[in-house]
Amino acid sequence: MEGVHYVGEVLHARSLKKLTGNNQFTPQAESIRTLRSNLLAFCKDGLPHSGKSELILISSSVQGEGKTFTSFFLSRSLASLNKPTLLMELDLRRPRLVSNYAPELKNKAGLVDYVNGDVDLKSIIYPSSEEGFYIVPAGSMPSNPSEILESDKFREMLEEVKKHFDFVVLDSAPLIVADTRATIPLADAVLMVTRAGYTPLHVLKKTISNMKEFKAERVGLVLNDVSMGLNRRYYNYKYGYRK
Ligand SMILES: Nc1ncnc2c1ncn2[C@@H]1O[C@H](COP(=O)(O)OP(=O)(O)OP(=O)(O)O)[C@@H](O)[C@H]1O
Ligand SMILES: [Mg+2]
Repeated sequence: MEGVHYVGEVLHARSLKKLTGNNQFTPQAESIRTLRSNLLAFCKDGLPHSGKSELILISSSVQGEGKTFTSFFLSRSLASLNKPTLLMELDLRRPRLVSNYAPELKNKAGLVDYVNGDVDLKSIIYPSSEEGFYIVPAGSMPSNPSEILESDKFREMLEEVKKHFDFVVLDSAPLIVADTRATIPLADAVLMVTRAGYTPLHVLKKTISNMKEFKAERVGLVLNDVSMGLNRRYYNYKYGYRK
């Protein structure tokens, strides 16, 4: 597909245990590491060095393609390179990042509360159990999600966090949601997640052609939920490490 770089794939994970804790040698964990390496090559200047930061927006054509899943495991993986990484929950209408992956942040103040002027920036950046990996939850349900993400305060906030993190990853809503489009020109790179056997090809093609219209600087494609069974590349992993 013209103008789009294929960044990599994420394997289907039957259980999150394949990706967390000590399961560093599962094929699923390996697919995230490969995606990370490919992403670094795709970034403008490779691995960010001091004073440089990369703002990566993760979106998709439709709901449920694995944006939040990919954002979370990719961000954790970036942080493990000793590159401080901030993951921000930008899907303000259907925030699933906290409920699925960081339940300890449930009901905590977040992005919406900061933009509304109720709390300061420092207080909405929460450390996770992984060193160098921080999360900004969506926070309170907004009455005006578009206005939050289109506000100057949100834009200034991104500039500010970029000074402190090597990677800032935005877990967005699908592109059919208007406020996601407003954030696209702010990103250094956009990763479009598409789910194997789920997203109709014509929908994906339309999304990609729309990216130009939305002024995306660089667009990469990630194929998610790939089944390992038929993929020879993972053969050794599958039989070498399966417990
Ligand atoms: N590679 C994968 N292996 C197994 N399960 C996955 C994978 N990717 C996503 N899922 C599961 O599919 C569901 C949808 O994924 P996720 O919430 O990440 O999608 P999303 O694109 O963020 O959806 P939404 O548009 O609702 O925000 C979740 O239950 C998630 O755990
Ligand atoms: Mg999501």
